[in-house]
Amino acid sequence: MSVQAYAVRDEQRPPDNMLLQVVQRGLRSQPKRLPSWLFYDEQGSALFEQICEQPEYYLTRAEIALLNQHAGEIAQVLGPDVRLVEYGSGDAIKTRLLLEHLVTPVAWVPIELSADPLRRSMERMAEQVPHLPIQPLTVDFTRPLRLPVPPRAPRRTVVYFPGSTIGNFEDREAAQLLRKMRGEMGDNGGILVGADLKKDRATIEAAYNDSAGITAAFTLNMLTRLNRELGCNFELNAFRHRAHYNAMAGRIETHILSQREQRVRVGRLQVQFHEDEAMLVEYSCKYSLEDFAALAAIAGLAVQHVWFDPERMFSLQYLTRAV
Ligand code: AVJ
Repeated sequence: MSVQAYAVRDEQRPPDNMLLQVVQRGLRSQPKRLPSWLFYDEQGSALFEQICEQPEYYLTRAEIALLNQHAGEIAQVLGPDVRLVEYGSGDAIKTRLLLEHLVTPVAWVPIELSADPLRRSMERMAEQVPHLPIQPLTVDFTRPLRLPVPPRAPRRTVVYFPGSTIGNFEDREAAQLLRKMRGEMGDNGGILVGADLKKDRATIEAAYNDSAGITAAFTLNMLTRLNRELGCNFELNAFRHRAHYNAMAGRIETHILSQREQRVRVGRLQVQFHEDEAMLVEYSCKYSLEDFAALAAIAGLAVQHVWFDPERMFSLQYLTRAV
C-alpha cells in the first residue's frame, strides 16, 4: 500500500463559467464582495505560505507549537485506525505532525481545490510517512463529498480542518459546514478544527497587515487572477488592501479599496467603483471558547477536548456528536 491515486480526480470540479458568474454576482451586489476562496490560485497559495512565515502572522506558529506539544495526546484521544479527512490541506506541514503520532492510520484524504499544491503535499507526505495510504480529492469542500472507499475499515473518520479556515465563514455558514462534516464523519467520528482565539486588537491587526506587505500582495493577487482568468482590466495600482478588526463582530474584515473613481470590465459587465469604495474579500473570525462551543452546538456537536499553544493564542478543538 502507498499512494492510491496520484492522478487527481477532477470530475467534481465546478465548470469554468461558474467563476464569471460568481464574480459578476459579487460585484453587482451592494456592498460589493468577492468570495475568499478566490485567493487560492497557484500564486495565491504560494503567497499564503509566505504569510505563514511573517513574524506578525502568529496563527501558523502557534498551531505548530500546539501540535509539537500535544500531538501525542491528540492521537490518544482519536484512537487507532483513524481515517483522516483533511479539508483544504494546503502544504500539510501540520498534518504530518499529527499523522506521525496516529496509531495505524487507515488513510489520509486531503481535499484541495488546486491540483498542484495538492500533488506537492502528497509527494512530501509519501516520503515522510511512507506507508500511509493517500486518497486525494480535488473538489470544493463546501459541497457534498463522495469519500473514496477506504483501503480497510476505519475505527473512526476524523475530519481535520486546521488553520482557523472555519473563521472565513460567517457563523451561519460555519455551522452549516460543521453540520455537513458531522454527516461525513458518521456516528463514531469526530472533527478536529483549528480556531483562532480572541485577543487584543493590535496583535490581530498586525497579523493581517504584515510590514513586508505580503498580506497586501495576497489580497490584491485576487485581482490579478481575475484579470488573467476572466480578462478583467483591474488596475493593480488603483486598489489597495485594508484589514480592520471589528471587535463587536469578533472578526478581521479584509477589503479591497478603490483609490479613485473607475470602471472595470468583468465579462460583459462594466463595474463602476467610486473613490474609497470597499469591496469585502474576507472575514477571519476570532472566537472565545464560549463562542466556539455555541457554534458547535448549533451544528449538533459538542466540544470534547480543547488544546492550546503555550501562549494561548490559538486552539484546536475536538468535536463529536452532541446526541
Ligand atoms: C487560511 C483562512 C486561516 O484567515 O488567517 C491570512 C487566510 N488571510 N492572511 C486567515 C489569511 C490573510 C487565513 N486562513
